[in-house]
Amino acid sequence: MNPHQKILTALDYIPADIHCAQDYELLSPRFMPAASFAYIAGGSGQDQTLAANRNAFSKWSLCPRLLRDVTQGHTRLQLFNRTFAHPIFLAPVAYQKLAHPHAEIDTARAAEAMETCMITSTLATARLEDIASANRGENWFQLYFQANREATIDLLRRAEAAGYSALVVTVDASIRTPSLRALREKFVMPDDCIAVNVQHYAAHAMASLRAEQSRIFQGVMQAAPTWDDLEWLLTQTTLPVLVKGVLHPQDAQTLKNMGCAGIIVSNHGGRSLDGAPASIDCLANIRAQLGNNYPILFDGGIRSGTDIFKAIALGADAVLIGRLQVYALSVAGALGVAHLLKLLREELDMCMALAGCADLQDVRSFELISS
Ligand code: FNR
Repeated sequence: MNPHQKILTALDYIPADIHCAQDYELLSPRFMPAASFAYIAGGSGQDQTLAANRNAFSKWSLCPRLLRDVTQGHTRLQLFNRTFAHPIFLAPVAYQKLAHPHAEIDTARAAEAMETCMITSTLATARLEDIASANRGENWFQLYFQANREATIDLLRRAEAAGYSALVVTVDASIRTPSLRALREKFVMPDDCIAVNVQHYAAHAMASLRAEQSRIFQGVMQAAPTWDDLEWLLTQTTLPVLVKGVLHPQDAQTLKNMGCAGIIVSNHGGRSLDGAPASIDCLANIRAQLGNNYPILFDGGIRSGTDIFKAIALGADAVLIGRLQVYALSVAGALGVAHLLKLLREELDMCMALAGCADLQDVRSFELISS
């Protein structure tokens, strides 16, 4: 990207050069400062997992089944006694004001227009109540454990009162791993980009460490949640709780046994443990471990309807879209996100029809070919 390129303000129309969902990724750098784009696009460490998330999709191909009648085809999904129009959800993505001044409010408007389940991040830059009001459709809340249980409960109660209908507890990001790409672009969070829903909670007070102590183990990790905290949280709410950040089949089994309503197979879009496997490579084993009926959602590297098809064929009930939603937000606000969702839906419909699948059950039983 040319560092001297002028940054465009978000459009109030859909640019003519968007032909597919992934085009938003190509266009977005013109609508954001280079440092903000690097923060959003980057992974952690050497970006090994970030790259793996994308590359792993191309290992799989689809051998179409011919002449099937798909004229009654649809993408409806039953989950938690609710019907979703399609299996494409918006992942929790923090600090959306980096991409657009209307931030999560515009994303929520797009979610409502496109009948999309939106998962609001703990680190949203708009009030969680305002986000819920902007999307009268399905809203879930992503919860990060706070430095103490009082603050965690306060946040949970606010989400319940605002009408969020499920809780996504993210457990794979106890340490904020700086993206080298963002550091090299000298990214700093702008002053007006604040995690407003948690700014008044006390941060973890770091004890002063002795020379032999570790800044990570005896510092940051002192505030990190453990299995006990999750066990406790499950007793505090009647909302369905999904745990996000699961990659190992045994962790998945433990979460199911504990009574979690579902899990999200994810490596945080390659932003947490660098060297973790591509999340799509973990999906089939976890589905095999948990059986066919347990809710499993998936994210990591999805850039097209074909990627969504592959994730469902490998065992996902639904998928979450991370970076693409922010890219679309930066280009054209609510309109951009709604358009992105429309494109992804059409790409999925087209892939299903050409593969010979009339509904998501057909996709779930579709055998992919691994190369
Ligand atoms: C994230 N992600 C994330 N996850 C979460 O549980 N809470 C959060 O606040 C955030 N914030 C966040 C910010 C940014 C800028 C990115 C890119 C990602 C992770 C997100 O929910 C999802 O797991 C990944 O983005 C999925 O990968 P793709 O779709 O971006 O490839």
